[in-house]
Amino acid sequence: MRFDTILFDLDGTLTQSGEGIEKSVAHALRTLGYPVPPEERLREFVGPPLYESLLKIARVREEDVSRAIEVFRERFREVGWRENRVYPGIPDLLSGIARSGGHSIIVTGKPEPLAQKVARYFGLDRLLDGLVGTRYDERRSDKEHLIARALEGRNPGRVAMVGDRRFDIEAARRRGFFTIGVTYGYGSREELEQAGADQIVETPQALREFLEVPLPRGRFLTFEGTDGSGKTTQLNRLRARLEEMGYSLVFTREPGGCPISERIRQVVLDIGSLGMSDECEALLFAAARAEHVRSIILPALAAGKIVLCDRFLDSSIAYQAYGRELGEDLIRQINAPAVGRLKPDLTVLLLTDAATALGRQRAAHASDRMEVEKAQYFDRVLAGYRRLSEQEPDRFRVIDAAGSIDTVYSAVEAAVLDFLH
Ligand code: TYD
Repeated sequence: MRFDTILFDLDGTLTQSGEGIEKSVAHALRTLGYPVPPEERLREFVGPPLYESLLKIARVREEDVSRAIEVFRERFREVGWRENRVYPGIPDLLSGIARSGGHSIIVTGKPEPLAQKVARYFGLDRLLDGLVGTRYDERRSDKEHLIARALEGRNPGRVAMVGDRRFDIEAARRRGFFTIGVTYGYGSREELEQAGADQIVETPQALREFLEVPLPRGRFLTFEGTDGSGKTTQLNRLRARLEEMGYSLVFTREPGGCPISERIRQVVLDIGSLGMSDECEALLFAAARAEHVRSIILPALAAGKIVLCDRFLDSSIAYQAYGRELGEDLIRQINAPAVGRLKPDLTVLLLTDAATALGRQRAAHASDRMEVEKAQYFDRVLAGYRRLSEQEPDRFRVIDAAGSIDTVYSAVEAAVLDFLH
């Protein structure tokens, strides 16, 4: 790595916090009876100290500024802080820095407790070595002072500051540190150039490359479950959460996931295919998988992505080997050319009993061919899944899917985040 300690601005550098800040500024101005500036001017509030922006951009009278900040903070503390997301690729960058022996510290003008709350909620805290923000009892909130505090008592080695506004660059330059401006945040390239940034990058990926932080290892996560376990609902929620946390995701499913395999999916799931032989069914699932693995999963893993796949080989074991009673050996054999040595790093398995599952399915939609099977078939699939999870307890996280959507989701999220961190 090119540096030992990297100081990161938060808003506009690690997180895209504009929405929450803009809405809260607009709310404060409206409450105090000031006109709300147009959107492009509101954007200028993201990054610089609020006090000055209220005076200069919104022309708030000096005597009203404290009250405006108070109203801003009230809304921001309640909802604004969550109207935010981590830029895609940031967790890769921070975990890469940690793995290379480097240190990442957030230096932000935000009140420190609030910044900590944001870092925790978006999963950045575990990837950091420190966080410095403005303290309520502190008069000075300029970045130079914050940078000094961030480095206090440390032996930081080679230091670089990364930020999206001139305040970040100017402050770090005054202390003689290398400065990197990012244009994907809220400042323009001209602003960063004028401030004297030593390097300017346009994306978090370009930042990672410039810092010489290695690409992360790809990770393969699969989701399995009996029909009607609520897997799709859970996956959609998880996907949205991981995206707001900035993870580089590829979201896919089986059977399907790529054009050829989606066509096989139509054949195999179509209610018009009733009467298809069990062997044909098993081979079609394997064929779809062979294409999907090669065209989607392996390339994504090679690019360091997290692949989230809705069903994989375990489905064929549970449904075809156990459900259809074709036997585990045969199903593993016909899937060998499809999967090669590829194996999930983590498998979340959602299980429900037959009664709950059938009730949910009927409520949700018309059944496809696979779902009109009998209760004994369902029980064999369930038994197959249980057996798989007992064979490989380290890979499986078995979750009882009988609870409410929220309860099940908490367990799903905890299992996945625990694995990713
Ligand atoms: P899908 O609509 O994806 O169901 P779900 O939302 O429950 O995942 O349909 C997938 C169906 O295909 C499901 O019933 C399980 C079955 N299946 C197999 O039998 N073998 C397999 O290898 C795969 C991938 C799926």
